[in-house]
Amino acid sequence: MAILTEHSTKISVELPTKDVHKKMDVFYNPAMTSNRNISIVLLNSIPNTGMNICDLLAGTGIRSLRFLNEVEKDKIQNLFVNDKKENFVKVFENNLKLNRIKNKKITLKNQEASLFLLTQHTDDFCGYFDYIDIDPFGSPNPFLSAAICQIKREGILAITATDTAALTGTYPKATKRKYWATQLKNHLMHETGLRILIRKVQLQGIQFDKALIPILSYSKDHYFRLYFRSEKGKTKSDELLKQHQYLLFCSKCLNYKTSIYNNEQCACKNQFQFVGPLWAGPLFDKQLLATMAKTNPFPEDQKFLDLLKDEKDVVGFHDLHVISKKYKIEPPKMEMALKKLHGTRTHFSPNGVKTEKDIKEIIKLLG
Ligand SMILES: C[S@@+](CC[C@H](N)C(=O)[O-])C[C@H]1O[C@@H](n2cnc3c(N)ncnc32)[C@H](O)[C@@H]1O
Repeated sequence: MAILTEHSTKISVELPTKDVHKKMDVFYNPAMTSNRNISIVLLNSIPNTGMNICDLLAGTGIRSLRFLNEVEKDKIQNLFVNDKKENFVKVFENNLKLNRIKNKKITLKNQEASLFLLTQHTDDFCGYFDYIDIDPFGSPNPFLSAAICQIKREGILAITATDTAALTGTYPKATKRKYWATQLKNHLMHETGLRILIRKVQLQGIQFDKALIPILSYSKDHYFRLYFRSEKGKTKSDELLKQHQYLLFCSKCLNYKTSIYNNEQCACKNQFQFVGPLWAGPLFDKQLLATMAKTNPFPEDQKFLDLLKDEKDVVGFHDLHVISKKYKIEPPKMEMALKKLHGTRTHFSPNGVKTEKDIKEIIKLLG
């Protein structure tokens, strides 16, 4: 056991000695500090107050402890902290003591996650949550149905997925089975993986006329992270469905575009390959990101938030190295390429440029 500090919070924990995996006892993963930081910045940047917050798969409870210490006081009405691991309650209570937190707003549970979500209704609590955080090992799939049922109107659903192999097309059959889409293994796979996951989550909401609008979604290190605002209505749900499209990619000339069809020819006469269906709408709420980047108190995440804030929110990007290899041109310098293509960097790749210009124009400008 060791006592560690993550920003405001001390934690007495077992540290992973090898790679982290499901079978370990409740443990602390320092690689996810940024994931937790950004959830705190987001909660402090949205207008919602008096929230019933649920940390569904709490592990050591570090996220909840940090919420209690770092999220503005008027934001939390009740904090529900749950994990099915046997020693969870003991670990969490010890960590509450270690941090001298005496808070009456906490409900501590040691239940299977979906069961927990569906059974919290009491005389004092409606059973629906304003914020649910799903932070599993691997796929969030097992927790989506109950979480989507129990998220309130205007509530925020936060989801981590660490099964990036399935989402980025390492196992095409797994992508189909788990995420109902076809993936391609190329430089776009992190963006397309994220968009495939967004659509999968949205489909589960749409069946109940719940429109899950992405307000912040990104790919980082070994995981994807998504935040949705839940809105109610048939029309809003129909609007989301219109943005479930394919990304068509031409491996011959590197052209790409979105389409509702998956069987088209590129202008260069080559047959497009397809990815999807996937979410072809915005990944971020620009205003929210601007607030987050401005108010972020965590220096280690500033560069990343600034990168997201400045990123053009269009589907796909061009990779300068891939272009240079395919067209046998000198690798273009990033700053020059950004200027000529009226583009922005993208968090999906250090060599990527987001631009509205098509490949023909790009080659003319960079070649
Ligand atoms: C990745 S850890 C959570 C990490 C934590 N959110 C953090 O920020 O440190 C995933 C946790 O989910 C819990 N878990 C997995 N399946 C569960 C289920 N069906 N019901 C409740 N807890 C579950 C595990 O016990 C594990 O502690």
